[in-house]
Amino acid sequence: MNKRKSANVVWHQGQVTRAMRERLNGHKGALLWFTGLSGAGKSTLAHAVEAKLHAMGCHTYVIDGDNVRHGLCGDLGFSDADREENIRRIGEVAHLFVEAGMLTLTAFISPFRRDRACVRAINGADFIEVFCDTPLEVCEARDVKGLYKKARAGEIPDFTGISSPYEAPESPELRVDTGSMSLDACVVQVIDYLAERGIVRR
Ligand code: ADX
Repeated sequence: MNKRKSANVVWHQGQVTRAMRERLNGHKGALLWFTGLSGAGKSTLAHAVEAKLHAMGCHTYVIDGDNVRHGLCGDLGFSDADREENIRRIGEVAHLFVEAGMLTLTAFISPFRRDRACVRAINGADFIEVFCDTPLEVCEARDVKGLYKKARAGEIPDFTGISSPYEAPESPELRVDTGSMSLDACVVQVIDYLAERGIVRR
């Protein structure tokens, strides 16, 4: 929850607007919010989509869950309240990136519907929820980081999918079958969506 403590602060409007930045860039700003279980393929897909967009001449940036927990969100753990604050901060940071005209991609489990709804409220129509729909069994079989094994052994408390819930999106803008589709096919699905929305030009 953002408990604003700063009174007597007035918004300063710059001379360069978002529309001006977007004209210069030749594409719109938007927030692609990848959500799904640990090991679902969020980061892999976000980075592959970024590489494709970059090759198309777009201005991009990926904000990655594991990475921000080394810095900006290094003070947060995995309790419900800490995850809420993690997602709130990233929702706000992503909003700044989008205002800067970037195609912004985020890869966070973001397991709670309420927290994702807050990010949607901050970002409005710029928010594109991309559900990386890999079933738990597949994520657990992959276990790239060995965390599911540790979680099953009781060594990691509040582990998403094991001892903490994942609330799947009910109506995401995009549902990607990251459990069985090839990475290339997943990338095409996301890029097609952006082109259809007029956010990028092919
Ligand atoms: S979120 O729930 O707050 O959105 P976030 O995406 O930042 O999570 O971080 C998830 C990553 O942290 C996982 O990919 C995993 O590598 C690691 N991790 C460590 N502990 C946990 C845990 N208890 N639950 C889920 N992921 C964890």
